[in-house]
Amino acid sequence: MTDPYDPAREGAQMAFDGRMSYGDYLRLDAILGAQHRLSDAHDEMLFIIQHQTSELWMRLALHELGAAREELTVGRVRPAFKMLARVARIFEQLNSAWDVLRTMTPADYTRFRDALGQSSGFQSHQYRQIEFLLGNRNAAMLRPHAHRPEIHAALEAELARPSLYDVALRLLHDAGHRVPDHVLHRDLARPHVADPGVMAAWTAVYRAPEANWELYELAEKLVDLEDYFRRWRFNHVTTVERVIGFKRGTGGTGGVSYLKRMLEVELFPELWHLRTAL
Ligand code: HEM
Repeated sequence: MTDPYDPAREGAQMAFDGRMSYGDYLRLDAILGAQHRLSDAHDEMLFIIQHQTSELWMRLALHELGAAREELTVGRVRPAFKMLARVARIFEQLNSAWDVLRTMTPADYTRFRDALGQSSGFQSHQYRQIEFLLGNRNAAMLRPHAHRPEIHAALEAELARPSLYDVALRLLHDAGHRVPDHVLHRDLARPHVADPGVMAAWTAVYRAPEANWELYELAEKLVDLEDYFRRWRFNHVTTVERVIGFKRGTGGTGGVSYLKRMLEVELFPELWHLRTAL
């Protein structure tokens, strides 16, 4: 009989008194200690973890989007590409995650839905921050955060900054493709509205990609990002309809009717519209 394999023989660190371990570095006690079911329903654990992991991915998306916006602001387009591509992949990851949640039937969800009270993803401040950063801005969405002044202030500050798309439009303009003044100096707290001048500027880029390679690549990165984001919205509303039908949301909206309305949001409208004109 040979002895059981012992990884210590090839140098695996086995003692962590006084040294930083994997769990220490990742703060696993805090993360794995944060799943508190409010009912005895088996599926509530899935529901909690699905939301918590989504929030973690959103945290990374914000980290990347904020940095991408900074890079674009100072004209460093290439590092921003990498970050934008990563964010699209994060949304792909979140899209796949719906498959796990869909294993929960309406009956499973009903067992713990009352325990959620009025809480809803509608109050996710990170999600709202992502929407605001990308350009889907609406000051009314600040209100659910009034009870958390620091979060409210961070969201309000975001509404005062140029969105990712604003920064892209500034680059477009600076490269010689005229973007109208009223677009460049718009009220930042509101969403960008599709504009024929912006459409003409992007169309010129798409008609001659080889002469405008970086802008063309930037535009396609933005389209890619919105494409994955749209799929997230669609997967969400479909899962919601599958689980609660047309019941009102715990957050108080009409539920599916509200989420379907959000499917109409266009973050980078001209980049989609120009395809018809090409
Ligand atoms: C069975 C699972 C789910 C159901 C039944 C559900 C239901 C809903 C409903 C009805 C709304 C509209 C607001 C309201 O009145 O509550 C909503 C919004 C939202 N949910 Fe979910 N949801 C589910 C899973 C998730 C997951 C896993 C996430 C990931 C974080 C999520 C994130 C959000 C966000 C961010 C919003 C706000 C969307 C917006 O304002 O455009 N939801 N959800």
